[in-house]
Amino acid sequence: MERLQKVIAESGITSRRKAEELITLGKVKVNGEIIKELGTKVSSKDIIEVNGCQIEKEEKEYYLLNKPRGILSSTTDDKNRKTVTDLIPTNARIYPVGRLDYDTTGVLILTNDGEFANILMHPKHEIEKVYLAKIKGQITLDAIKKLKEGIEIEKGIIGKASKVKCKKTDPKTNNSLVQITIHEGKNHQVKKMFEKIGYEVLKLKREKEGIFDLKNLSSGEYRKLTPKEIKKIYSLEK
Ligand code: URA
Repeated sequence: MERLQKVIAESGITSRRKAEELITLGKVKVNGEIIKELGTKVSSKDIIEVNGCQIEKEEKEYYLLNKPRGILSSTTDDKNRKTVTDLIPTNARIYPVGRLDYDTTGVLILTNDGEFANILMHPKHEIEKVYLAKIKGQITLDAIKKLKEGIEIEKGIIGKASKVKCKKTDPKTNNSLVQITIHEGKNHQVKKMFEKIGYEVLKLKREKEGIFDLKNLSSGEYRKLTPKEIKKIYSLEK
């Protein structure tokens, strides 16, 4: 069951605020009956009319994309640059759950299910995010300790890694590959954590977000989530 104004907004005909206005003005009918109560819950079986026209309910869609570099994590761009939704051919109004930077690659979930997106992003679930960072310089044990203890990335905002593993260092290029696991999703968190302790991030890839990884997906490829995966995310709320 979902709130009437949410279902109207998700059908794409108007915003949620405008939907609320239409409900209180008596312009909305559910199963032929005018409903003016804003909290009213409706199911997928209910027939909803706005200004006498029946609305079409959008089916929920869920995708896992291996985001390439040079693509925005948004639905539109005022400079007409390519966005992640351009990579998935659907008429559903999907959007990315959280953001990866323009130059960051890897796991990105897209959906038109707001409830699912909220569960995935809510800090209380502490969803694990695993990143592979190519950094300038050789990572030291002291740096790894600092990343695990927590680093103030902005005033009063601490970014903390639960795991940090040095995968490779290359003395020739003076670069290191470091796998870092975090449970928060603050803006540019991984880059800022490294920058604060003196390392520049040259490349960043999200290898995992919770149960989702990049198995069988090349850069730019996507797949639909399975019903089992969707259920698993919903079960976090129980
Ligand atoms: N941390 C970053 O710095 N950038 C991302 O895109 C994701 C996490």
